[in-house]
Amino acid sequence: MLLPLSLGACSKSETDKKPVEQASAVSVHDEMVTVVIPQTQAIWDVSNASLNDEGSPDPTKVSDADWQSVKAASSALMTSLDRLATANRFLAAKPGDKIMDQDIAGAAQPKDVQARLDANPQGFRDHAKTLSDFIKAINGAAAKKDFKTFSERTAELDGACEGCHKAYWLK
Ligand code: HEC
Repeated sequence: MLLPLSLGACSKSETDKKPVEQASAVSVHDEMVTVVIPQTQAIWDVSNASLNDEGSPDPTKVSDADWQSVKAASSALMTSLDRLATANRFLAAKPGDKIMDQDIAGAAQPKDVQARLDANPQGFRDHAKTLSDFIKAINGAAAKKDFKTFSERTAELDGACEGCHKAYWLK
């Protein structure tokens, strides 16, 4: 936990360094609940509504308002993921916050997630950056109303979230 501090210049005093470290601690749970989950849902809503009765993607089902919604949601997602990709320090969840399934026997507790974050924070940043790049393609597709790219990427979106969950959350 003190590693980032020890990398700082020796000439700096402790009081210089501490606020920087604390100000940049990001709650992963908050990012998931307040941004990642609802904004991903907004993208999935458009993608699900674009399927025709046979379950095939149909470009005529996506309106200008839908494209705007995908653009806004993907931008918000990228901002959140970039925050995770560049944070100095992570909190699995703020004290008192419950994470999904933690009351189920054998499921991960916040302290388990925290231990994995502390063991490899750079791996976590890398997962966030990978997903941010993936979302960027959805954002670009929305800007160009490129239905083919949009439907291909959204079909893979679920899988794109999984890598980080397997590495840092799910047991
Ligand atoms: C960089 C890593 C990372 C990526 C990428 C990521 N997540 Fe998460 N997610 C986590 C971690 C760690 C937890 C466990 C902490 C928690 O439950 O809040 C979590 C928890 C969750 C939860 C449970 C939240 C709760 O109530 O506790 C949901 C739902 C979720 N993520 C959805 C997603 C979706 C959807 C995506 C892809 C668009 C995604 N996540 C991408 C790291 C990630």
